[in-house]
Amino acid sequence: MATLQIQDIALAYADRDLLKGISFTIDSKTRAALAGANGSGKSTLMKIICSQISSDSGSFVVTKGTRISYLPQSDIVLGHQSLFHEVETGYARYIPLLREIKSLENELAKSDENTNTEPLLHRLHEIQETMLASTYWQREAVIEQILVGLGFDRTDFVRQCNEFSGGWQMRIALAKILVEDPDIMLLDEPTNYLDIEARTWLKHYLRQYDGGLLIVSHDQGFMDETVNEVYELFNGQLTRYAGNYSSYLLQREQELQRLEASYRHQMEMIEKTEQFIERFRYKATKARQVQSREKQLNKIELVEVPSHLKKLSFRFPPAPHSGNDAVVIDRLSKQYGSLRVFENFSLIVNKKDRLAVTGRNGAGKSTLLRMIAMQDHDYSGSIQLGANVKIGYFAQDTEHTMDMTNTVYSELETVATTSDIPRLRSMLGSFLFSDDDVYKSISVLSGGERSRLALLKILIQPANLLILDEPTNHLDINAKQMLLDALKAYDGSILFVSHDSHFIKNLATRILYLHDGEEPEIFEGDYDYFSWKLEQKEQFERIRAVQSGQDKTQGTPSDSAISRKESNRLKNRLRNLRAEADTLLKHSEELELKLETIEHEMARKENYSDGERIVQLVQLKELTESQHEEITQQWFSLHEEIEQLEHGDAF
Ligand SMILES: Nc1ncnc2c1ncn2[C@@H]1O[C@H](COP(=O)(O)OP(=O)(O)OP(=O)(O)O)[C@@H](O)[C@H]1O
Ligand SMILES: [Mg+2]
Repeated sequence: MATLQIQDIALAYADRDLLKGISFTIDSKTRAALAGANGSGKSTLMKIICSQISSDSGSFVVTKGTRISYLPQSDIVLGHQSLFHEVETGYARYIPLLREIKSLENELAKSDENTNTEPLLHRLHEIQETMLASTYWQREAVIEQILVGLGFDRTDFVRQCNEFSGGWQMRIALAKILVEDPDIMLLDEPTNYLDIEARTWLKHYLRQYDGGLLIVSHDQGFMDETVNEVYELFNGQLTRYAGNYSSYLLQREQELQRLEASYRHQMEMIEKTEQFIERFRYKATKARQVQSREKQLNKIELVEVPSHLKKLSFRFPPAPHSGNDAVVIDRLSKQYGSLRVFENFSLIVNKKDRLAVTGRNGAGKSTLLRMIAMQDHDYSGSIQLGANVKIGYFAQDTEHTMDMTNTVYSELETVATTSDIPRLRSMLGSFLFSDDDVYKSISVLSGGERSRLALLKILIQPANLLILDEPTNHLDINAKQMLLDALKAYDGSILFVSHDSHFIKNLATRILYLHDGEEPEIFEGDYDYFSWKLEQKEQFERIRAVQSGQDKTQGTPSDSAISRKESNRLKNRLRNLRAEADTLLKHSEELELKLETIEHEMARKENYSDGERIVQLVQLKELTESQHEEITQQWFSLHEEIEQLEHGDAF
């Protein structure tokens, strides 16, 4: 079996021990998550495993012939060729065999009756068998299936790789890895730029993939169905948690609560001891106690505060005064080559709108944001900003908006005014860039650190229109929540794209829905209203699809093509929904079982007198109940949608 054994890996940057003696093993059966807060060293560990950087000490042993593929979190490098050909390089492993076939055939052609062709024929047969067992000869179909699954359109296949945005380049790299079909896959945040459909597709793909998997992602739902163990990096060390991702989060939550309690307890104790020492320092009668307490203080091993507990806290500065209309878009048309993204599109964004732009990948969300943010002027029609509107723009590919050679401090300086300078250090501090961190080069920052810096750059220049393109990508749970809180308290307009339904639900007051080949639609309400309207609309479309099916004899060919496309789309959606619902149901059953166990445990006599244990159990019960409630709700709404689709008789 393919095995990768990592032994005692250590790495320090300046005076920070990032990794301290990490050991673990991955084989072709492993399904593991690599978890940890932003900046804890997950990407670094992955880079060490695939020899992109070296560790200070430690070693690893790999079984001969093991093929390992790695998807980096950022800085993806692709060849100068079309999308299809780039992904086809995932089959490069067969090139030596194909060459061998050629040379064997040449030798056979040159042979005469004196040549012993037996070994040549034998080898040829062997290789041909290997090739037949592979998907090499069906590669076009395989590549097409993967690319379409990841959200590419067939018309994209001939486009050059460099024409795609960073998020799409990540998908190209991911497609290549899936095509490589390695023994072990290391994926660093593959879900970041994927919309819900592509995430669901990838989840199913990985479930039937039979190699080993080590994956970083902050998407709980995705991880729950992909992994069965979690390695967490924390303070440079790796801890293994058996079970799925939710169960890890639960165990971790409890541990954090305990750690937080003992941290507070320790702080109180230290404070009291110090007060005692201060008070009695000069009292001869207490000299001995003071001494012993001083000793005690020196001996204390400090409880390390996990970085999750260090609160990232910030508020956006008050929005400068502006007129009522933040943006007026009038008859906007935009196309890329022959691809028409917007046609005669008009929209007014009002002051204080929190407008979420949703829709499938490729529908034009980032394009729209870029045009409004005046990063792309190649369109017809007009985009007018209201009086005194000042934009703060968070680009989808943050790395392209920063100078990689800058340090954290000098990058922030590029947007600061003279009067900001004295505040820069403290602002960086509240974004968790401590003293040494501010002199780090941007090129070494982790994904989450870069996102935090990009947010800080926006924050420093008071704006009344925030344009945020997937701002939660790369952020860990804690940072995501802080951003949400700050945005909720912000009093300017917000125009944003996100695939995080929790984020949209809690922020959006209006929704713009973009979909392929149809007019963009605006929904004057929050996310729940939007979901409800969308369901109604889908129902209506289904009825129309049925009708056009009945009218098939009179229908034009394009009508039937449309209804076929629609029916395929619905079938896909139904399949995805059923799979999601099954998983939720399973999950909910697991939680019910867990609740039973907790209740059983609470009823045990020996626990009665153990106050701490009972408190723990009560907390655990509450947490499990709320998880159960949420999952049941999700299941209900999925179930309703499934029923509606099933009864729609669209196919
Ligand atoms: N060459 C370097 N010099 C100094 N510090 C570095 C270097 N490379 C990485 N770091 C720091 O090491 C820490 C870990 O980085 P890493 O990218 O591994 O984090 P991560 O766990 O992947 O975080 P995220 O969730 O944000 O992606 C970060 O604080 C980063 O700034
Ligand atoms: Mg990372």
